[in-house]
Amino acid sequence: MAKRVPVIAGNWKMNTDVESGLKLVKDILDLSKDFSGVDKIVCPPFISITSVAQALSGSSIQVGAQNVSANPDGAFTGEVSTSMLRGFISYAIVGHSERRAMNGETSAMVAEKAIAAANAGINPIVCVGEDLEVRKAGNAERYVAKQLEESLAGYTDWDSLIVAYEPVWAIGTGEAATSEQAQQMTHACREVIRKLAPEAADSVRVLYGGSVNSGNVVELMDQPDIDGALVGGASLKADEFSKLIAAASAS
Ligand code: 13P
Repeated sequence: MAKRVPVIAGNWKMNTDVESGLKLVKDILDLSKDFSGVDKIVCPPFISITSVAQALSGSSIQVGAQNVSANPDGAFTGEVSTSMLRGFISYAIVGHSERRAMNGETSAMVAEKAIAAANAGINPIVCVGEDLEVRKAGNAERYVAKQLEESLAGYTDWDSLIVAYEPVWAIGTGEAATSEQAQQMTHACREVIRKLAPEAADSVRVLYGGSVNSGNVVELMDQPDIDGALVGGASLKADEFSKLIAAASAS
């Protein structure tokens, strides 16, 4: 089996304006240019995607969107389609827990977005994760397995898929999952892929997200089923994000 290339992806969420986003990627580029063997991804807000993509053109850092529409065009106020993004981005986060919670995205909608992205040649990063209530009830593994299966309904482009396990209780709290918890859950995600597409299970990258920083990234990435990190807060600081890239490069 070929080694899975590690991934460090920064989800900037609704942070940075065009100017500060450009400064951030220039600093990341400077600090991380010597680290290879890792897929480096930044996901700026839509308003910054074209200028960030231009600034990173020909570099080792790739650009992703934080969301895409499942629809090709039409009366969808405020939405952005894959054809508008194609050429600027290589990845798109779909089904982030913040969009599931605040924008009413269901797993069925997430599956449509993942398929639309893959059809446009954009690699979807499909996010799943349980909240604290589900974890406390002891249902985390079952819940996430079902959520992932539903978020991949009809999905067939296994080469382009990345999965991100992001427990809601660990996002932005400073309290990451333990490496044991993260391993157990990323393994469960991989087993879902094994069920849907046995031949793809050992090549699809599965990331962990939720309060990842330079202090916990090595232990998390040492786990056999964790192939990298989807990073929020720490992706907004060039030095910290570059440390994550360095750690993944050495993993
Ligand atoms: P934090 O790294 O800020 O916890 O955010 C994680 C996340 O939601 C990335 O998508």
